[in-house]
Amino acid sequence: LREHDPVYWDQRFQSWVVTRHADVIAVLRDPRFTAKRAFQDAFWESEDFLAAFGQPVRVLNRQMLFLDHPDHTRLRSLVSGAFTPRVVENMRASIQHEVDTLLDDIMPKGGMEVIADLAYPLASTVIATLLGIPPEDHAKFVKWSDDYGALIDGNKSQIEHVICLLQSFSEFTNYFRKFVDQHKSDPQDDLMQAMINAEEQGGRLNEDELLGNFALLIAAGHITTAHLIGNGLLALLQNPEQFYQLKQNSDLISSAVMEFLRYDSPTQSTERIPIVDLEIAGKHIKKGQSVLLGLGAANHDPAQFPDPDHLDLSRTDNRHVAFGYGAHFCLGSPLARLEAELAFNTLLQRLIQPHIQLEKYEYTPSIAFHNLKYLHIT
Ligand code: HEM
Repeated sequence: LREHDPVYWDQRFQSWVVTRHADVIAVLRDPRFTAKRAFQDAFWESEDFLAAFGQPVRVLNRQMLFLDHPDHTRLRSLVSGAFTPRVVENMRASIQHEVDTLLDDIMPKGGMEVIADLAYPLASTVIATLLGIPPEDHAKFVKWSDDYGALIDGNKSQIEHVICLLQSFSEFTNYFRKFVDQHKSDPQDDLMQAMINAEEQGGRLNEDELLGNFALLIAAGHITTAHLIGNGLLALLQNPEQFYQLKQNSDLISSAVMEFLRYDSPTQSTERIPIVDLEIAGKHIKKGQSVLLGLGAANHDPAQFPDPDHLDLSRTDNRHVAFGYGAHFCLGSPLARLEAELAFNTLLQRLIQPHIQLEKYEYTPSIAFHNLKYLHIT
């Protein structure tokens, strides 16, 4: 498809699908596209629907991911300071401690369920600690985050399913209210406090934006990172010579993580909508039509990556779009990369090939994500 029909109309998704690296980048930097998604269309804004689900839909629509400038710029600037490479580097020791504690607990058991026992607990603990959420609540928000992922995955054909997911999203955002109250009466030194102060002091974000963006940070902050660890480890187990190469040369860890992101991207697609009629690579796209950007497909475009289906841990000039591109480029990319680097470094020191066996694994069906349901190794 990428070669013969790089911008095609997909009847099933009711969307254009863009698969070339250059076209994906061109759309993501083009101001004629909005990040506002399909849940701002007639279906979601019908009176009956809004009467029942107005609150979660309104909150969803105030997440920075789905806003354009100037609202997007305002919200992003409020939290971006918490995720700069310098700030994230200060978290190195605490992330390493978390990795060691988890592995000390799991490794003696012989086998390991990588997703449930390592990837999710690590990624959820790191983001929850940053925001100021207690460990005993992690299981709850992992479930809400998975439901949120399914909600933005875009399958609106089963209305009952969408309603369940919206109910779950509503619980997710309501859950933050008690923390807002607690933080207001007993101020803390965490990201949540910084955002609450911004709401209280100059009205720089309203309550919907506060709750919606907490949910976004929690969900975006751990699901994808967990699956980077899962997908990357699976890629290494399927390519034992690269496993050895990385085990013997830890200097490769940073480029290896970038290659895992490119080779098996946790976020496979995102969506944009044109605000005027326009053309992409010769195809006429009407204002308001959905355009799915195949981030995973673009990351295997031979025009950009030599030998794209080969896992090359020392690949240079790796301009993948696994973190997106342009104004919405992933805010948490330094954090995700550091977590993955520490997890792989420590795992590789401790795992010994060829003794480890890939037992079984399965992916969760999805348009937007490539996520492992489980990955068992022994
Ligand atoms: C945005 C992927 C980790 C927070 C994005 C986008 C992608 C992405 C593709 C852009 C979506 C678009 O343009 O429509 C990933 C991957 C991750 C990861 C693959 C891990 C491997 C994280 C982490 C955080 C985070 C750890 C922590 C807070 C965000 C936020 C946005 C975002 C807040 C929205 C930024 C904006 O709208 O300006 N991410 N992400 N992500 N990501 Fe990540």
